[in-house]
Amino acid sequence: MDRDDIVALRDIRKSFGEHEVLKGVTFTARRNETTVLIGGSGAGKTTLLRLIVGLERPTSGELWIDGEDIAKLPDRQLNRVRQKMGMVYQYAALLDSITVFENVAFPLVEHSKLSRKEIREKVMDKLTILGLDAKRVSTKFPAELSGGMRKRVGLARALMLEPPILVYDEPTSGLDPLTSRLVDDLIEETRDRFHVTSVVISHDIASCFRIAHQAILLIHGQVAACGTPDELMNGNNREAREFIEKSGVDVAHVGRVDQARK
Ligand SMILES: Nc1ncnc2c1ncn2[C@@H]1O[C@H](COP(=O)(O)OP(=O)(O)OP(=O)(O)O)[C@@H](O)[C@H]1O
Ligand SMILES: [Mg+2]
Repeated sequence: MDRDDIVALRDIRKSFGEHEVLKGVTFTARRNETTVLIGGSGAGKTTLLRLIVGLERPTSGELWIDGEDIAKLPDRQLNRVRQKMGMVYQYAALLDSITVFENVAFPLVEHSKLSRKEIREKVMDKLTILGLDAKRVSTKFPAELSGGMRKRVGLARALMLEPPILVYDEPTSGLDPLTSRLVDDLIEETRDRFHVTSVVISHDIASCFRIAHQAILLIHGQVAACGTPDELMNGNNREAREFIEKSGVDVAHVGRVDQARK
């Protein structure tokens, strides 16, 4: 395995009782690139993401994270590997009863021995980097923010432990097209600035074309196609072409964030 292969799944299977949700999934996400998982509802995307971040265990297969197969790691060691990953949830998943500051500070309060002053500096710094007015926003409660601002706060929190891997479950769902594009830019800027590897679930084909170095189409728990979004659209794989065509997105007019890529 190449050392740039930071996330590698080999024949991953996952069953819940009798129901086999993932049926032998194999793919690799390269360091500092964005991999986007697409596929219909119930295909197993969220399940796959939860396996990658160690919230669930695969039934069988190998799951390599930064050189370690976490599939069979004891719980204690799995917790250590989990700190290499930040997760940005669909609806930002902020705690409503505490302020933005407390939400973002939470991972550091839990997992570091930093002083209050150091934590405060890091929180304000991350909020500012993500384009928020840190002083004003930090004292607010999540309900007082717009959807786009909540995404930024969720991202700030996921970045607090500066993980090399960030996973996002439908980061643009429920946002208007303009805000969705801003979130795409944010994902790309974050990848670039913090040198993170991103794994993103998306129902948004425009977003997939904008941010993905690699797109993976999951159908009924199996990888139906894998390649750049343009390869999926122009290649021989009928399912991939249809999936993209059915979205109705005019991909010719969608910008690509990283035009220089191979
Ligand atoms: N904890 C669980 N227990 C039982 N079944 C589960 C569990 N988690 C997921 N499933 C089942 O696995 C299948 C895939 O679900 P999953 O959430 O991974 O799909 P998805 O591709 O993320 O769909 P969507 O696009 O709607 O979010 C579904 O049939 C779901 O009911
Ligand atoms: Mg899902």
